[in-house]
Amino acid sequence: GCAVLEAAFQRYWALLFAAARPTENKQPWGTPCTQLLVFVATPGCDGFPSLDSKESCEYRGREREGKGTVCGFLAGLETFSQLVGRDENGMYYINKTEIVDFPRFPHRGLLLDTSRHYLPLKAILETLDVMAYNKFNVFHWHIVDDPSFPYESSTFPELSKQGAFHAMTHVYTASDVQMVIEYARLRGIRVIAEFDTPGHTLSWGPGAPGLLTPCYLGKDPSGTYGPINPILNSTYQFVTSLFQEVSAVFPDFFLHLGGDEVDFTCWKSNPNIRAFMKEMGFGEDYKKLESFYIQRLLDIISSLGKGYIVWQEVFDNAVKVRPDTIIHVWKENPTPYTEEMANVTKAGYRALLSAPWYLNRISYGQDWMAAYQVEPLKFEGSSEQKDRVIGGEACMWGEYVDVTNLAPRLWPRAGAVAERLWSNATVRDLQDAYVRLADFRCKLLGRGVQAQPLFVGYCENEFAGF
Ligand SMILES: *[C@@H]1O[C@H](CO)[C@@H](O)[C@H](O)[C@H]1NC(C)=O
Ligand SMILES: *[C@@H]1O[C@H](CO)[C@@H](O)[C@H](O)[C@H]1NC(C)=O
Ligand SMILES: *[C@@H]1O[C@H](CO)[C@@H](O)[C@H](O)[C@H]1NC(C)=O
Ligand SMILES: *[C@@H]1O[C@H](CO)[C@@H](O)[C@H](O)[C@H]1NC(C)=O
Repeated sequence: GCAVLEAAFQRYWALLFAAARPTENKQPWGTPCTQLLVFVATPGCDGFPSLDSKESCEYRGREREGKGTVCGFLAGLETFSQLVGRDENGMYYINKTEIVDFPRFPHRGLLLDTSRHYLPLKAILETLDVMAYNKFNVFHWHIVDDPSFPYESSTFPELSKQGAFHAMTHVYTASDVQMVIEYARLRGIRVIAEFDTPGHTLSWGPGAPGLLTPCYLGKDPSGTYGPINPILNSTYQFVTSLFQEVSAVFPDFFLHLGGDEVDFTCWKSNPNIRAFMKEMGFGEDYKKLESFYIQRLLDIISSLGKGYIVWQEVFDNAVKVRPDTIIHVWKENPTPYTEEMANVTKAGYRALLSAPWYLNRISYGQDWMAAYQVEPLKFEGSSEQKDRVIGGEACMWGEYVDVTNLAPRLWPRAGAVAERLWSNATVRDLQDAYVRLADFRCKLLGRGVQAQPLFVGYCENEFAGF
């Protein structure tokens, strides 16, 4: 009586046995193993997953039964699916196995950027499938940014009409967004949307006149625009209405509010902004102006009953945030991210790590190894500080990535991050990981995922599309 589990069983049945051909009146899975007994310990199985969802699972191959939570079961079913093999007669079998499993970190995310290139709905759904194969449980949807605004807002339809690459074909409609959220829920994946402000908002401008700061060249407006204009009351009315909608659309408790890389050049050029700075006693410190905006934004989000994640600059610029804020660490320069992790957790905030996991960056050779060797808790700090690290996210920024190369660039490399966030810190032998990741990559090919090779070799299932 649990729709999430029913749907999962159907998916995995198809995944495992779709290729099954009954021979000589015998079912290829034989008779002994047609039953898998499942006990679900937690009620409320059809809700949305959350940061607090427990994901433990026990599976005993011989007794054909397991116990755990719903999210744990989705992970357990995935593990089970990876254990099934076929013998020389084409019969499915599984070796006697006993597994007690649980993740090390509760937040294991993957960021997709749908602003620098639009990703078709199907590509997002397929990514969610492969995320589940890798036991990622958070889809961080960096949905809008400077280059385009593909989110179709019901409150402000002009944003995508004027800010998307194409107002009809390159947008996510309300039903697209619902489909992503539901598809993710059925796979135990949370969807956290990011609407990054006050920077990274150029695409918002055409559909929201008066929102962005007009830049000046000398005494006159130059015709170009900068970050969101933080000195106007109308800005906060707009932001309130937009986030009211976004909070209702995305059910997760957390929103990602961005807050990174605010360029002050335009603000500095604008005489009204300079006058406001003076009036407020901010001097020449534009970080204070940024904080002024962010603080008001955070108050708005709090009043909507949501929690928030922000990029590290918000913390670096000493914005006053709620104690339960999650700080997302992404910078590698000029100081190592380990120092930032130490500072963030020392200040009492929870931290998410992404700095060493920008998978959009590629290099010749086996660059998954560097991602694998990261130890998220390797920084100076007390055990209380270490407890504040809730996990991390692999990021796939979209400057050089669209639907043509998304899957091969993500997989199996993101699997290295997934294992780091799931497994015990002691699981870090590179050679062992290579063998398992290469094998897993072959399994992905068998499941129709265009995962790229790690190194020289071959798979029994080469990519099915060829
Ligand atoms: C089962 O165990 C045997 C012996 O260790 C091994 O060769 C085989 O690959 C295993 N099969 C599966 C499906 O894991
Ligand atoms: C903006 O709002 C503040 C506080 O509500 C108010 O004091 C101020 O007069 C408003 N400014 C304008 C230009 O409307
Ligand atoms: C961490 O905090 C120390 C002490 O306040 C400071 O000197 C250092 O610059 C901070 N590091 C980062 C990466 O912000
Ligand atoms: C991680 O592995 C070590 C060594 O095998 C073990 O002592 C420890 O209990 C494990 N940690 C967890 C949380 O299971």
